[in-house]
Amino acid sequence: MAKKRILSGMRPTGKLHLGNYVGALENWIKLQDEYENYHLVADYHVLTTDLSTEEIFTNTIEMVTDWLAAGLDPEKAPMFRQSQIKEHTELFLIFSMLITKARLERNPTLKEQARDLNIENMTYGHLGYPVLQAADILLYKGEFVPVGEDQVPHIEITREIARRFNNQYGEVFPEPEPMLTIFMRLPGLDGQRMSKSLGNTILLSDEPEVVKQKLRKAVTDPQKIRKNDPGRPEICLVFNYHKKFNPSEIPVIEKDCRSGALGCVDCKLNCSSKINALLAPILEKRKVYENDPNRVKEILIEGEKKAKIVAIQTMSEVHQKMKIG
Ligand code: TRP
Repeated sequence: MAKKRILSGMRPTGKLHLGNYVGALENWIKLQDEYENYHLVADYHVLTTDLSTEEIFTNTIEMVTDWLAAGLDPEKAPMFRQSQIKEHTELFLIFSMLITKARLERNPTLKEQARDLNIENMTYGHLGYPVLQAADILLYKGEFVPVGEDQVPHIEITREIARRFNNQYGEVFPEPEPMLTIFMRLPGLDGQRMSKSLGNTILLSDEPEVVKQKLRKAVTDPQKIRKNDPGRPEICLVFNYHKKFNPSEIPVIEKDCRSGALGCVDCKLNCSSKINALLAPILEKRKVYENDPNRVKEILIEGEKKAKIVAIQTMSEVHQKMKIG
């Protein structure tokens, strides 16, 4: 039986952090044998919130280097830049006629973004970025989209557009479904959402000593001041990290934190060693690609050739159904 198809994507914001890994990348890697995966670098999406383009290319290379280091296999699944496959913009144009402005304005993720970034006058392209995302997904007839929770409204918009197209012109597109990870949001070192702009990240490329230092400063229960004070794991960020990176010791840590037997310094050291164990193979693999950035670019160009074949095929079906061309 043919494998089901997954389309996943990220904006190229540079080096990835543990939140990106836990929220998406780890899942992509797990799924790459069972499904047919397409991995997209959403480089045009960057323009929605930042018009400067100087860093897009280097950020793309950094991000794809992390994808490869973490274990995505370009032999199994193409990795490609949205900007290099013109069919994305063409499908985006057609789709933009199939959704109303009011519908796009109701998008909670966009509202949140506008609030966070203080955007008062949103551009037409920013409002429409879920439509470009719909084109990203449907150009490859993606059936599943492994993303974080914040992207679910965009998948809903994608489904609506697919339905609308199919009803209007004839069946071309599947209605894709989001695939969420169980452990969706990993908080940053200050307890807020982990985000590069907030400076509270642990990077996949951080050396062991850096991870240790970062963890040392992480917030814990503010009432646990001295080593033997009893702590409240349920409000502790480091406990949250243990849940993800050190699940087998959770019962002991919970008990010893509550009783006061375990101090934060030791608990943090233990946690950083677990994170470093996870990162060690990634760091090692990363060095190989860091020393050969051309190889990363070649991998993208190869991926773009493969993606292009599918994109052309879908657009020819679109043109046929629309009786254009
Ligand atoms: N909008 C996504 C984000 O901001 C990135 C993205 C673009 C994407 N196209 C996609 C994600 C297609 C999944 C599928 O993170």
